[in-house]
Amino acid sequence: MPTSEDPEAEIARLSAEISRHDALYYREDAPEISDAEYDALRRRLSQLEDAHPEFKRAESPSATVGAPPVGAFGKIRHEVPMLSLGNAFDDQDVTDFVQRVRRFLNLGEGDPLDVMAEPKIDGLSISIRYENGSLVQAATRGDGAEGENVTANVKTIKEIPHVLEGKAVPEIIDIRGEIYLAHKDFEKLNAAQAASGGKVFANPRNAAAGSLRQLDSSITAKRPLRFFAYAWGAASKLPADTQAGVAAAFGRWGLPINPLVRVSGDPSELLAFYREIESKRAKLGYDIDGVVYKVNRLDYQERLGFVSRSPRWAIAHKFAAERATTVLNKIDIQVGRTGALTPVAKLEPVTVGGVVVSNATLHNEDEIARKDIREGDTVVVQRAGDVIPQVVEVVLDKRPKNSHPFKFPKLCPICGSHAVRESDEDGNAADVVRRCTGGLICAAQVKERLKHFVSRNAFDIEGLGAEKIEFFFDTGRIKSPADIFTLEKRDQISDEPLITLRGFKETSVGKLFAAIDARRNVPLDRFLYALGIRHIGETTAKDLAKAYGTFEALRAAVDAAIGAGKESDAYQDIDNIEGIGETVVDALIDFFGEAHNREQIDALLHEVTVAPFVRTQTKESPVTGKTVVFTGTLTKLTRNEAKAQAERLGAKVSGSVSKKTDYVVAGAEAGSKLDNARALGVTVLDEDGWLALIRGA
Ligand code: IVH
Repeated sequence: MPTSEDPEAEIARLSAEISRHDALYYREDAPEISDAEYDALRRRLSQLEDAHPEFKRAESPSATVGAPPVGAFGKIRHEVPMLSLGNAFDDQDVTDFVQRVRRFLNLGEGDPLDVMAEPKIDGLSISIRYENGSLVQAATRGDGAEGENVTANVKTIKEIPHVLEGKAVPEIIDIRGEIYLAHKDFEKLNAAQAASGGKVFANPRNAAAGSLRQLDSSITAKRPLRFFAYAWGAASKLPADTQAGVAAAFGRWGLPINPLVRVSGDPSELLAFYREIESKRAKLGYDIDGVVYKVNRLDYQERLGFVSRSPRWAIAHKFAAERATTVLNKIDIQVGRTGALTPVAKLEPVTVGGVVVSNATLHNEDEIARKDIREGDTVVVQRAGDVIPQVVEVVLDKRPKNSHPFKFPKLCPICGSHAVRESDEDGNAADVVRRCTGGLICAAQVKERLKHFVSRNAFDIEGLGAEKIEFFFDTGRIKSPADIFTLEKRDQISDEPLITLRGFKETSVGKLFAAIDARRNVPLDRFLYALGIRHIGETTAKDLAKAYGTFEALRAAVDAAIGAGKESDAYQDIDNIEGIGETVVDALIDFFGEAHNREQIDALLHEVTVAPFVRTQTKESPVTGKTVVFTGTLTKLTRNEAKAQAERLGAKVSGSVSKKTDYVVAGAEAGSKLDNARALGVTVLDEDGWLALIRGA
C-alpha cells in the first residue's frame, strides 16, 4: 500500500470526503464520483486506519453505512441493522475469503463449504416488512440503523407484492433487496424528463433513488421501478436452512429473485461463475457492479457473525476497474507543502467508465522509470483501484519515433532550488520522493503551507479556502501566516482595496475579515498543527500540547535541544514524551532551527494569542505532577507500559535524572541513572515500591 506522509491528516481528509460523498449519494441522489472511486476512497481509509488505529476517528465513515436519513420522510429504526459488504477485488481476495471462513468455522479439508453466488445489483437497498403476509412498512437503508419510511412509494412498485402467497410465510419478516431501474426504462424516463424540462439522471441508480424518494407517491407510481429480493432482516421463522433455500421460498411467495445463481463448494467454480456474469453484464438489461458470495448454510452464517459494518459470511466481488487508452501530452510536476515533487500525467481527455479523465497520477520518479512513461506516449489509464486515475502501461507500438525517456527534474520547477531524495540513516535506499529544498523561498511550498494553515483542523478560517490563498499570494497580499492577520489593516490603506476587485463584495470582504479576527485566539494544539511541521499531524500536535502546556515551554524545550545531540538531556526529554519519537524530535529541531521559520512565528505571535492547552481533569494520584525516571529492566511491566501508566496518573516521565526528578524507578542492572539519582539525593524505588506507590490510584 502506498504510505502516507501524514496519515492522520489523510485519514481526516478521507473521512470528510467519504462523508460528503455519502451525503451526495444517499441523501441527494447526486454522486460526484463513480462507485469504483468511492470504493477506492474507502479502501484507502481502511488501509490507513488499520496501519494507524490511533488516528481512527470515533465517527469514522468506516464504522457506518450510508448517511443519516434526511427527515422529509418519517424515520424507521431497523430491527436488524442493514449492513454493507466487504469487497474482493481479485481472485485471491475471493480465495482468501473462503479460507478465512473455513478457518473461522474450523472446517477440516474434507468438510464441504457451499457458497451461493449471485449478481450484485447496483440499485438502492430497501427493507420491506411483511406481517402475516401483508406488506406493512418499507424503509430505505439510511445510515444502516435508521432509514426513511417510504412505504407509500414502495407500495406503488408493481413487482413488489402487497401480500405474500403460499406456504410457510412467517408471521413477521423483513425482506431485503434492491430497487433498480432497467436500462430501457431508464432511457425512456430520461427522454421524457428531458422533453418536459425535468431532471435528467446520470445513471439508472440515481434515477431509481430519485424516483423512490418522491414525496408524492403518484410520481413514484409512474416510474417503472423493479425489485430483487436477496436477504432478510428480522424474521419470526425462516422457510429453509440455507441462503439458496430461503431465496427459493421468496420466489414461491411471489417476490422477484435473481435467476442467475450458483451454489458451489469449489472456489474455482465460483470464480468461473463470476467471469460468466461479467461477460453477460452488458446484456443483462440492468446495472450490476459485481457478484456477491454468501456462505450457504444459515447456521454457519450465524456462527460467522459480523465485523464492524459487514457480515463475515458474505463478500462482494467487484468488477475490475474500467480502462481506456489515450495520449499522454505532458508530465507536470506539482510541488506540495513539504516540497514533495509529484508527477502528474496531463492526458488527452478520455471517458473511462462514464467519467472524463484528463489527469492521472504517476506517483513518483521511480514509477515513471519503471514503466518508461514518456511524453507523447499512448497509455492505458484506469479508474478505481486508487483514488486518482492511474496510468497502467504504455502502448509501445504507438510510441512516437522521436520520443526520449522522461527526465525527472533535479531542480524544483517552481523555485529552482535543488530537489533531492533523502537517504535513510545508513545512507542507503533513497526515499522515493524527491523534495524541493527551497522551503520558504519556494512559492509552491509556501502556498501549500498557507492552505494548510487556514484549513479546517488548523486555524479553520472560514471563507479563506485554497483558491483565495492562491489569489492573495499571487497578488502579493499574503506571503506568510502573519500576513493573514494584517490583511485588513493593510487593505484599509491600500490603493487597491479588496472591495474594488472583481469577485469581492463589501459583505463578503467584511465576513472574511471577521472570520480572520475570530481566530486570533487559537488553542496550542491547533497552532502547532497549523505550522505544518513535517511529521506533526493532529495527534502529535496534541501530544506535544499536552506535554508542554504552552507554546513558550515547547519552544524553550526545542531550543535547548537544537545542536545538543541525541544523547543530550534536552533531546531525550522531548523524545520521552508519550507518542513522540526521534522522527518528530528531529523535525521539531529542523523547523525551529531555521531562521525563516523563527521569524515567521515571531511575526505571527504579534497577531495571535496561543491559548495554553487545557488538560481534561484527571483524578489526583500520588504521582500527579511528579517527574519520574524509569531505568534498568523491569519485570512486571514493560518500560512502555510503565511509562504510559505513569502518564495516565498525571506524572511526567523523563529520560534523564536531574534535581527536578521526584522518583527514579530502578529495575535490574540500572546503570548511571541510578548513580546519578543517589548522588542528587532523588528518591529511588524498585519496581515493587513503584507499584505500591501507585496502587489504588
Ligand atoms: S446481500 C448483510 N446480495 O450491496 C448484507 N447485497 O455493497 C447482505 N446488494 O448492502 C447483502 N446486490 O444493498 C446482497 N445480491 C445481493 C446484492 C446486495 C446488491 C447491495 C446491498 C448491500 C450492498 C453492499
